[in-house]
Amino acid sequence: MYSQVSTAAWSLALVAQLVGADNPGQIGSYNGLAVTPAMGWDNWNAFGCDVSEDLLLGTAQKIVDVGLRDLGYNYVILDDCYSDGRYPNGTIKPNFQKFPNGFKHVSDRLHALGLKYGMYSSAGYLTCGRYTASLGREMTDAQTFADWGVDFLKYDNCYNGGQSGTAQISYTRYKAMSDALNATGRPILYNMCSWGDDGPWNWAQTMANSWRMSGDVYDSFSRPDERCPCTGDEPGYLCALPGFHCSILNIMNKMAKIVSKTQTGAQNDMDALEVGNGGMTDDEYLTHMSMWTLEASQLVMGTDIRSLDPSAYSILANPAVLALNQDPAVSAGARRWIHQVADKDENDAGNIQLWARTMNNTDAVIALVNAGNTLRDMNATLADIFFDQGGVISPQARQGWDIYDLWANRMDNETASSILNGTAPAIISVDDMLNQTTRWNVSMMSYAEGLNANASALFGKMIGSVDALGTVTAKNVSRHGVALYRLRANGKGMSKLDARDEL
Ligand code: GAL
Repeated sequence: MYSQVSTAAWSLALVAQLVGADNPGQIGSYNGLAVTPAMGWDNWNAFGCDVSEDLLLGTAQKIVDVGLRDLGYNYVILDDCYSDGRYPNGTIKPNFQKFPNGFKHVSDRLHALGLKYGMYSSAGYLTCGRYTASLGREMTDAQTFADWGVDFLKYDNCYNGGQSGTAQISYTRYKAMSDALNATGRPILYNMCSWGDDGPWNWAQTMANSWRMSGDVYDSFSRPDERCPCTGDEPGYLCALPGFHCSILNIMNKMAKIVSKTQTGAQNDMDALEVGNGGMTDDEYLTHMSMWTLEASQLVMGTDIRSLDPSAYSILANPAVLALNQDPAVSAGARRWIHQVADKDENDAGNIQLWARTMNNTDAVIALVNAGNTLRDMNATLADIFFDQGGVISPQARQGWDIYDLWANRMDNETASSILNGTAPAIISVDDMLNQTTRWNVSMMSYAEGLNANASALFGKMIGSVDALGTVTAKNVSRHGVALYRLRANGKGMSKLDARDEL
């Protein structure tokens, strides 16, 4: 099944080349990749420059052993600080202390595990860690990456020689690498890491698969930090100083302004996940994970997988939440409202938020985020949830819905531990999997197929219903927590208003 998936990606990429990289209309992705958001792991958030072959391959093995590959996390991405200058012929020289067998070896080992290989460089004269980078050397480096068997390129923005400041200048600089990757003939997912500089959401869809839309995430839910000077409230959210130490709420606030720009094949990238790194509470990590999935951000784990704790595992590995991220109708949830609340400490945003998204099968998913400082009940009217569907009150709001809690079947710590230590029973067949509520394997059935089949693991747990024109209530949403609900039309109760309309 895995090889079928990659064959499909290859042939789509071929189609992309035939129709021309600047003509995405037919296929929704300029190169056929990232049709749904990429999933994987990147070392940066947990390890920074401390990279090595052992780290990559040890992590890769664990990703396979604990079922994360089978949940879809298949790109293993090596970030900055891996090189040792260049050879006399101009090609990148690996740091052989960190990677004694070079990168083709790493790539072969990853591929043998059924994983894909991600690499990093910068559209600048140096990477952010001041290693050699690719500006002006795009053709050479793209070919080197292709020769190494690279499947994904994260392409940073440091030391860009001042070639930024207008969309046109940034576009030209990033397009050079896009063209160079295409010229290799190898399908390589192109992830621009330009931190929102010059508004890539306005121009990157025809030449990249994803683009970072903020300065770097950090392991804090809401604490403001002057090193992340932009808040998202800048006009048009255009920000010249993206920075780093951007909190989860900071990035959500920026994302709210540009949700319309996410699509199949080309997504806003909210940065790698911090789940598991220890700086947030469990509730905060649930909110972080919920919002990254609802927003169709690529899902790149950013923690030490070799020592993952059960509670982080059960957040990263919840199939009902991952199916939301991988929904075939790729779009980002829209923020319907944000209200200030009184309960707030000095580091708190002190607000509550409703986000909503329509799924491929016409279900809706909502996130009620409690960014206040105390536990509370939260309410969302159907009129607000379905605001986008038109009319003063949309037809969707005038019918009944069943409510499914996407976190209700979160795996308990005992089950997660048994998976992490290798004692859990394997999923033995599709029928076995369709009887499970907490586990999934995309090599047996894709999320799209599972959603069509109403697989219980992908829908969480039904917790109630809401009548036409009614209000969804989430009880006891924790401080900094979230209620992540999938609403399924139950065919009940066209409202009187509706019945009268039809007479
Ligand atoms: C930053 C980038 C990070 C990481 C780092 C490496 O610019 O946003 O995600 O790649 O560089 O130095």
